[in-house]
Amino acid sequence: MSMLTFVPGEMTDPAPYRLLTSVVAPRPIAWITSVNGEGRPNLAPFSFYNAVAGFPPTIMFSVSYRRREPREKDTLRNVRETGEFVCHVVDEASAEAMIRSAVEWPEAFNEIELCGLEIAPAVDVRPPRLTCAPVAMECKVTQIIPVEGATNVMVLGRVVRFHIREALYRPEIGLVDTVALQPLTRLGGGVEYTRIGELLLLPIPSLEEAMSESA
Ligand SMILES: Cc1cc2nc3c(=O)[nH]c(=O)nc-3n(C[C@H](O)[C@H](O)[C@H](O)COP(=O)(O)O)c2cc1C
Repeated sequence: MSMLTFVPGEMTDPAPYRLLTSVVAPRPIAWITSVNGEGRPNLAPFSFYNAVAGFPPTIMFSVSYRRREPREKDTLRNVRETGEFVCHVVDEASAEAMIRSAVEWPEAFNEIELCGLEIAPAVDVRPPRLTCAPVAMECKVTQIIPVEGATNVMVLGRVVRFHIREALYRPEIGLVDTVALQPLTRLGGGVEYTRIGELLLLPIPSLEEAMSESA
């Protein structure tokens, strides 16, 4: 089968970004609330996002500089200033509000109000929680790491409290019903998204089972 080869160093921005985001996909979306030093709230989505440690539970998201002006995004400035954020799951029902919250609103605008979203106070951190989100994770920033050679900064945060919509929690196994959660996930190029599909159960065989199968 014939293969194409691309060398990022020979490509111009944003071609490598377009390739990468369509390959490392689908990506979950972190819908992040933060506040500045005066307590003014902010909301924005980030799909350079994942879990990086299970215990203590730790997540990361990566913030790029704005293309038009070399100014830190409000979320990054806020988490530097206050060391806290709340990360929400975006479900399919919130897709339009999430997109609207990504508009590069000037700093003085409140995206939460502009998107018509309701909030509730968080318990352990100052940023508010979005009530429409089926899951909210209150987080304390543990590290802020510039990505070598890139205009991105990686923020790591420890989850200090989970809020889970009760109907989605399966107490007998300690898991959220991720299919019922209907998370919206992002693909490439800035406009492509997808929903998660059918559940596949694939337990890893023990070494003995694997050896007997390959015998
Ligand atoms: C689904 C989605 C995912 C996004 N992911 C990222 C990301 O990972 N990193 C980033 O810097 N911007 C990302 N953006 C763009 C930011 O949301 C956008 O720049 C936003 O205005 C930043 O807001 P702030 O200045 O209030 O922090 C994403 C936008 C959308 C719609």
